[in-house]
Amino acid sequence: MNNLLNTTKKIVLIYKNRALVALAVISVLVTTPMLHAQPGTAPSAPEPPSGIANKALVPFKSQGVAAANPLAANAGFRMLKQGGSAVDAAIATQLVLGLVEPQSSGIGGGAFALVHDAKQKILRTYDGRETAPAAATPSRFIGADGLPMKFYDAAISGKSVGTPGTVALLQAMHKRHGKLPWKTLFAPAIELAENGFAVSPRLREVVRVDRFLKDDPAARAYFYDAAGEPWPVGHVLKNPAYAATLRAIAKSGAKAFYEGEIADAMVAAVGEYADESKRGDLTRTDLANYRVVEREPICFNYRGRKICSMPAPSSGGVAIAQMLAALERFPMAQWGANSLDSVHAMAEAGRLAYADRAQYLADPEFVEFPKGLLDPGYMQARGALIDMGKSMKRAEPGTPPGLKLAHGADPTAVLTGTSHISIVDKFGNAVSMTTTIEDIFGARKMVRGFLLNNELTDFSMRFEENGKPVANRVQAGKRPRSTMAPIVVYDARGNPDIIAGSPGGSAIANYVMKTLVAMIDWNLDPQAAIALPNLGSRNGPTELEKGTPLEALKPELEARGHSVSIIDFTSGVQALQRTRDAKGRAIGWRGGADPRREGHVAGD
Ligand code: GLY
Repeated sequence: MNNLLNTTKKIVLIYKNRALVALAVISVLVTTPMLHAQPGTAPSAPEPPSGIANKALVPFKSQGVAAANPLAANAGFRMLKQGGSAVDAAIATQLVLGLVEPQSSGIGGGAFALVHDAKQKILRTYDGRETAPAAATPSRFIGADGLPMKFYDAAISGKSVGTPGTVALLQAMHKRHGKLPWKTLFAPAIELAENGFAVSPRLREVVRVDRFLKDDPAARAYFYDAAGEPWPVGHVLKNPAYAATLRAIAKSGAKAFYEGEIADAMVAAVGEYADESKRGDLTRTDLANYRVVEREPICFNYRGRKICSMPAPSSGGVAIAQMLAALERFPMAQWGANSLDSVHAMAEAGRLAYADRAQYLADPEFVEFPKGLLDPGYMQARGALIDMGKSMKRAEPGTPPGLKLAHGADPTAVLTGTSHISIVDKFGNAVSMTTTIEDIFGARKMVRGFLLNNELTDFSMRFEENGKPVANRVQAGKRPRSTMAPIVVYDARGNPDIIAGSPGGSAIANYVMKTLVAMIDWNLDPQAAIALPNLGSRNGPTELEKGTPLEALKPELEARGHSVSIIDFTSGVQALQRTRDAKGRAIGWRGGADPRREGHVAGD
């Protein structure tokens, strides 16, 4: 276990519910886990915690950005202070994230964004998910032995690289919602790339423990010194290649990325593997044909609150809707945070939702989305399967009303290098955007200063199960299923009240669900809600966050039939919430960032 970094830190966790307000100062052994399990086994949380640091709630009046890195949040905030919109701020934030948190997101990846347009009182969703190249077939990840490939054999190859969608998404959002000139939004990232930024503890650590990054010559030259050591914390790292890429996109728009020299460089990189079996098939045509899709958001009610999220190809919003519908019949407020009953109910709700997710969710252009999954009667009937005395251990998928086609289940565990951005502007607009390059450092292939995604491993490697086609199988032009769940919660007047989301692979739905329950049922502020220990079930064991008070519940959960895993459960939630006076009138905002990463809130 030479990848372990053991650091004793003091953390202050505030757990408060209606029955209890407790301030606990806990000395914990914060353990950065092995980043990757052996090839072929799926790490449950591929992005490790970077040490848990207590973070303070950030109040602000009218405009603010919560992002995974202070430099990125500040870049977005700078746009807001220049009179920019929430979308302008999101673009500047994303471009800096691709530089300072390159392991998680960037222009070589994809994203989903919810944009609340205050003037039109409408919520739009933008799907900038990567697509499979036109040459892709369902057997893409079946090896020469006829079996699904080991995860990292697929991920660290050109085969995993999908047509990136983030640049097109940023441009599409800007065209409709931008206030500042497109070029202006690139200034903070270009300045930082040219002048350099200080390597953060998290970046240093994830570079240090990664097993594959060094194998790519461009990544090796950038992330390590001449002796092959990762740059130390505080080293001023410059990325002139990224600055040049951004200058080209700033000048000529997304076209500069999807056509021309940058496109040529991506196509060449994906095909340049010495081992033929690792060569990808991304083409100039795939890039030139990339399109952002606007979709109807999925909206549902929980305890009288309207909550909206991303529809398929993301499974995250659907899973959260189903989990919350199942929880609604329980007195969650009375049970409180970290209680046996709450954890039991949340884990069981997770089992049910993740069973449906595995069976039904895929790109809706290829596999019709079974609308019955969100039918209130269906969701309640699923929730009624929860027995408070006994775990169901493993849930079977349900049969939603109106189901037309049976599929085989997809057991794919989604890994992630992902990040979430929450923004509000002084005009009343909001952006909730979750952005990814899939596994940490994506395909470990650096082109022109940015990393290419390995998003196609979010497809099922198996294309059929028990003789039935898997909904989430690879198909040409298809978008892989995601769990990313950007959220906007509305108040009774139809204004955004909470903006939230998280990275975390297939656990995203659990992290976001916990945050919402904490804010809505337990009345916690965003920071306290995020800091609350993570928990849930992805229809396997009941998972509890290591080093937290939840560990103490293991024996009682086992007595109810749970198989319990204590794991690093590294969320990266960024959440903003409106503040109100005693009469319920909106008076400002407050924001929280995940203490498990390097999140930051900037606002005024
Ligand atoms: N790659 C993470 C997700 O899309 O859920």
